[in-house]
Amino acid sequence: MPFEDDVVSYPGQFVALVVAQSFEQARAAAYRVHVDYEASVAVSAMDAALQAREPKVGGRGHSRGDAERAFAGGAHQIDVTYTTPNETHNPMEMHATTAYWQNGRLHVFESTQGVVNHRNVLANVFDLSIDKVEVSAPFIGSGFGSKLFPWPHSIAACAASRQLGRPVQLVVPRPQMFTTVGHRPETQQHMRLATNADGRLVSIRHETINTTSMTDDYFENCGGVTKSLYSCANVTTTEKSIQVNRGTPTSMRAPGAAPGLFALESAIDEMALAVGFDPLAFRLRNLATRDESSNLPWSSNHLPEALARGAERFGWDKRSAEVGSMRDGDEIIGYGVGACNWEAFRLPADARVILRADGTALAQCAVQDIGTGTYTIVAQTVADITGLPIDRIEVELGSSAFPAGPLSGGSWATASVMPAVAEASREALRTLRVYAVNQRGPFPEAAPESLIAEGGHLALNGKRVSYAEVLKGQRLSKAEGEHHSPGADVSKYSFRSFGAHFVEVRWDPGISRLRVARVVSAIDVGKVVNPLAARNQVEGAIVMGIGMSLFEAAEFDARNGLPVNNNFAEYVVPVHADQPEIDVILLDYPDLHLNEFGARGIGEIGITGLAAAVANAVYHATGKRVRNLPITLDKLMDGIPT
Ligand code: MOS
Repeated sequence: MPFEDDVVSYPGQFVALVVAQSFEQARAAAYRVHVDYEASVAVSAMDAALQAREPKVGGRGHSRGDAERAFAGGAHQIDVTYTTPNETHNPMEMHATTAYWQNGRLHVFESTQGVVNHRNVLANVFDLSIDKVEVSAPFIGSGFGSKLFPWPHSIAACAASRQLGRPVQLVVPRPQMFTTVGHRPETQQHMRLATNADGRLVSIRHETINTTSMTDDYFENCGGVTKSLYSCANVTTTEKSIQVNRGTPTSMRAPGAAPGLFALESAIDEMALAVGFDPLAFRLRNLATRDESSNLPWSSNHLPEALARGAERFGWDKRSAEVGSMRDGDEIIGYGVGACNWEAFRLPADARVILRADGTALAQCAVQDIGTGTYTIVAQTVADITGLPIDRIEVELGSSAFPAGPLSGGSWATASVMPAVAEASREALRTLRVYAVNQRGPFPEAAPESLIAEGGHLALNGKRVSYAEVLKGQRLSKAEGEHHSPGADVSKYSFRSFGAHFVEVRWDPGISRLRVARVVSAIDVGKVVNPLAARNQVEGAIVMGIGMSLFEAAEFDARNGLPVNNNFAEYVVPVHADQPEIDVILLDYPDLHLNEFGARGIGEIGITGLAAAVANAVYHATGKRVRNLPITLDKLMDGIPT
């Protein structure tokens, strides 16, 4: 909450808000605000904080068997620590709020991944009933998790508007996006793995510490995948957090799994080499055939096929095992593999579908399209059930005034919203059938359920009447359906998505150039509802994963905790010149335990495991095992201490 007390716990925390007629005037005035404060010593670095105090135990954690004993009794062991830096989401569209009050009602336009939650939070903060608050976000220029939850600027804009009695717009400038709207925290991950003499895993320990702010407990769930991806009787995962003088961390694309699988899939590679196995063969040998952490069967798991088809398309069999043995001119080629994994969620969702007398349909849901194609998916669903052509279906999303939808996050929007929209479409057709059998309707006295709905028509015994004619004939404007769809029943199956990345890197030691040259990814996310949008999500996640692998790290001045590279010039993200050839294989096996369409989600899985596949390829090319992201060139150059 902004302006709660007079303690500043991180650089970038709001101490005042300046409002003016123009942007320039506001900015000039803000620079003139003079703040007197009593200074204290900042503890902004993870190491310094860990020396000062004990980390806090929390998170989810998992334990089965006796990992410590099994480790000691193993035939081969590795004991290594990986680190990942603070990363910043950096959506192109910055966070922004436009707020105004009218007759005791608060209207807010917000770049948010969750209009309903945002509405509920504002209602609480300003002591209003929820029907007095409306939050709109019809389009969002990405969020990656930074826009899942409300941040201080939104509250500040609403408060200022209330005080002034005028609309107030507040845009968070890019430098403040590094402090006040969340980030992926820094992690330290201690991995201890052991196998027996046959190369089967007998012990896995994955112990994570992440940074958090002074005002919050945030635990990065790095062990969330470790507990179930591979078969192993003795597993312990723990999460701890350490407070530093930085802003509060939050979910960033595949929270937990993105940094967690960097550590796990790097460690699996190190373990395979310690045992003397090919990294792909070692994975195939150790895959879990059920979820051993929950003792439930997988709802659907095609990881073996993802590994096999990815390897075939990539040409893994051409990999020569010896480090640095594959060359092309001045370049040394490295091949690496990494599995990817993400939980598949289905949350409760409401939707409304209206068949209209002009022959069109309208679907409404308070879910958001964060750039992933949710508008299209909803229209496809209505078309699928009603048979109306897609260009006659209008979709409205992103207003808290619509039937409640979920946050657009966790890769769950598609799997959650499709069942609600489908059932609301059927509900609208049921309403229409009742109208159709009226005395003045086209099928008087017929049983409503005997009418077949297909291709935008109701039909019976060879007679076909369009939905529009049914309504117009009786001077009705619409037939409406609304539905509440429950979340997934997680008591019988473990729902997860799977996949594998195969990466080729090229290292030119003469000029110290490292490139990711080629990525082949085979992804198992259940039914692929829209292949273009799905492929786009995976490709985008791979690009983001290349940023995580090679470039991205928010650096903080240890003296005061100020972010140093708080701009696009110095916080480096991949550009077009960094793009490899990307080849995405979508396996397309419907997961009918999750919903009637068999669709899981696809937004996040593509970033998981990618950094490990890159690091594994870098090791294969250079012999340098980089355990600290990002893999910057200094870490590969001979004679430079890392
Ligand atoms: Mo995603 S980190 O749940 O937006």
